[in-house]
Amino acid sequence: EEQNRELRERLEQLKKERNAIILAHYYQRDEIQEVADFRGDSFLLAQKAAETDAEVIVFCGVHFMGESAKILAPNKTVIIPDERAGCPMADMVNVEGLRKLKAQHPNAKVVTYINSSAEIKAETDICCTSSNAVKVIESLDAEEIIWVPDKNLGHYVQEKTGKNLIIWEGYCNTHDMLTVKDVVEMKAKYPNAAFVVHPECRPEVVAMGDFVGSTTALIDYCKNSAHTEFIVGTEDGTGYQLRKDSPNKAFHFATKYLVCPNMKVNNLKKLVKCLETMQPQIYVPPQVAERAKLSLERMLQVK
Ligand code: 13P
Ligand code: SF4
Repeated sequence: EEQNRELRERLEQLKKERNAIILAHYYQRDEIQEVADFRGDSFLLAQKAAETDAEVIVFCGVHFMGESAKILAPNKTVIIPDERAGCPMADMVNVEGLRKLKAQHPNAKVVTYINSSAEIKAETDICCTSSNAVKVIESLDAEEIIWVPDKNLGHYVQEKTGKNLIIWEGYCNTHDMLTVKDVVEMKAKYPNAAFVVHPECRPEVVAMGDFVGSTTALIDYCKNSAHTEFIVGTEDGTGYQLRKDSPNKAFHFATKYLVCPNMKVNNLKKLVKCLETMQPQIYVPPQVAERAKLSLERMLQVK
């Protein structure tokens, strides 16, 4: 704790020196969320990156999030605590495969979940996050829509909008692990709890949800709900904000496996170090960044 206090003091000093802002996803370790200027889901953090006046953005999340920040704010320096923090789902689609699918459906619009590389975004008409996916699909006037890379979110959106999507077979290793059996057992154990679930979970698990939404939406729901007990079907880092907002409510994570190892690669020590050394920095080749930016900006404009 003494060491953490020193790290926090050093961080404050460095933040001023560098004119830096710290953005942290809700799946980050508590010690990072505690010191962030903004905590949020993928959408809110992308918005903050696009709007900030700071010269340096420190993005505490996984690689695609830092990349999206750099694409939206190309004149800023974007650094991350550890470049090994990737998202396996983002790696489940490659440019060659997507181009092949596009060639098979030449009139289709491509909608890409923000959990994807800059190269994939450059091949995309419009991005979305879990908080605006339904709105993004509804905003499109297209006969055919290619959806990459999350099949679970794709199924959810398909159900919600009634539109048929051409769905890529990617998924989040962490959310996809949660099963109907796990939830049935938790509901038996906590019969009064409401089950809140992220749409990256399997369709049959999402179908059991009393509420379905992005991390921000789940957190807001729990805060405002009359329920006092919840079974939580998303990554355990959200516990930080859930408990902060509602210290008198009970939160039971649906399994102990709802931990994204990639998100947990970052820690306070690495966060301080990256501001000290200004490394690693996110770099996106300009030709890729320009095209990818259009797809992100179109997303930000959907109301
Ligand atoms: P949201 O931030 O949109 O809730 O997405 C969750 C996620 O898996 C981010 O990697
Ligand atoms: Fe990727 Fe899933 Fe981890 Fe989010 S929680 S970064 S989607 S692996």
